[in-house]
Amino acid sequence: KEPKIVDNFGRAHTYLRISLTDRCNLRCFYCMPEDGIELIEKPNIMSLEEIITLSRTFRDLGVDTIRLTGGEPLVRKNFGYLVEELAKLGVTLKITTNGITLDKYLDLFQKIGLRKINLSLDTLDKAKSVFITKRDYFDRILKNLEKALEMDMQVKLNIVLIKGVNDNEINDFIALTKYKNLTVKFIEFMPFKGNKWDWSKGVAKQEILDIVSKRFGNVVALENPKHSTSTNFKVKGHTGSFAIVSTITNPFCADCNRIRVTADGKMMNCLFANSETDLLTPLRNGQEMENIIINAIKTKKFSRDGMDVKMDADHYEQNRSMISIGG
Ligand code: GTP
Ligand code: 5AD
Ligand code: SF4
Repeated sequence: KEPKIVDNFGRAHTYLRISLTDRCNLRCFYCMPEDGIELIEKPNIMSLEEIITLSRTFRDLGVDTIRLTGGEPLVRKNFGYLVEELAKLGVTLKITTNGITLDKYLDLFQKIGLRKINLSLDTLDKAKSVFITKRDYFDRILKNLEKALEMDMQVKLNIVLIKGVNDNEINDFIALTKYKNLTVKFIEFMPFKGNKWDWSKGVAKQEILDIVSKRFGNVVALENPKHSTSTNFKVKGHTGSFAIVSTITNPFCADCNRIRVTADGKMMNCLFANSETDLLTPLRNGQEMENIIINAIKTKKFSRDGMDVKMDADHYEQNRSMISIGG
């Protein structure tokens, strides 16, 4: 389908991220504010049928990839039904999950052809996992990771690096790629409402590369798929690869092809968008959705919703918390 969601910079938007819920069974400090968030009230959450209808509209406007996010997408009631229906749209489906209940859905994923699973796993140390997530699901998550790999799923581990917390594990994650066919994806810590962001706690792309090269020597750059949020590498001889999402030090916005829809049906033009377009109200009113979406993208700013390198707190503190955007 010809892409119709094109912004004023000529960027065609073909990749939709849908947040299925703002709830989660973990409490990672970099994502969920300490005091929690004001949860979206039930009547304002998109129903499964509304999600399917909107997804169809986006597909008809040229979206070819849909990533399901949260909160934790797998805690959404009747998730299995939803993903089966979405699979009928003929788009590439992907999911980002914390993996706690992944085992319940792997057979279904295999059946419908969902093979791209990004799994949040910030540490390989159980005690540290409890510290980061404030819950104790580490063993279960590891077991589900193994199951997914056994089933030949394309797994990427998402690791948000925080100094003094998990930055000493970079090379442990790289070591995992020696025999396992997975990608470990290091993510620069990003600012969202209530997450007490401070870049002095972040680890920059170049630092990561230096740490890995020093230990493993031969790091080769891989080809990066168009529109990729990460730059991709591998240690020569390793089965798996590694990647770095460098939103802070090397933004990749020029190639942005992403749109987001929150669990309450608001379209966000950018991960850091300060304004949203309500899609759910017009959808419920039976309005024609296509032009609403096509017009909404025209207000998209070029990079990080207009934030400069300082990532202005006045800006992101007015936005949603990460938990209700879904990354
Ligand atoms: P792939 O589809 O496998 O490339 O995944 P992804 O990296 O796009 O998505 P994932 O949900 O795994 O997110 C990993 C990290 O990338 C999270 O920290 C996201 O917030 C971040 N991310 C995802 N999309 C964007 C984006 O459009 N812009 C920026 N700046 N960061 C993004
Ligand atoms: N900075 C960077 N990445 C984050 N994520 C959640 N919060 C942040 C943050 N503050 C990542 C998690 C999850 C993905 C959807 O977003 O790793 O896997
Ligand atoms: Fe796109 Fe915004 Fe991410 Fe940049 S920060 S790549 S504009 S979503």
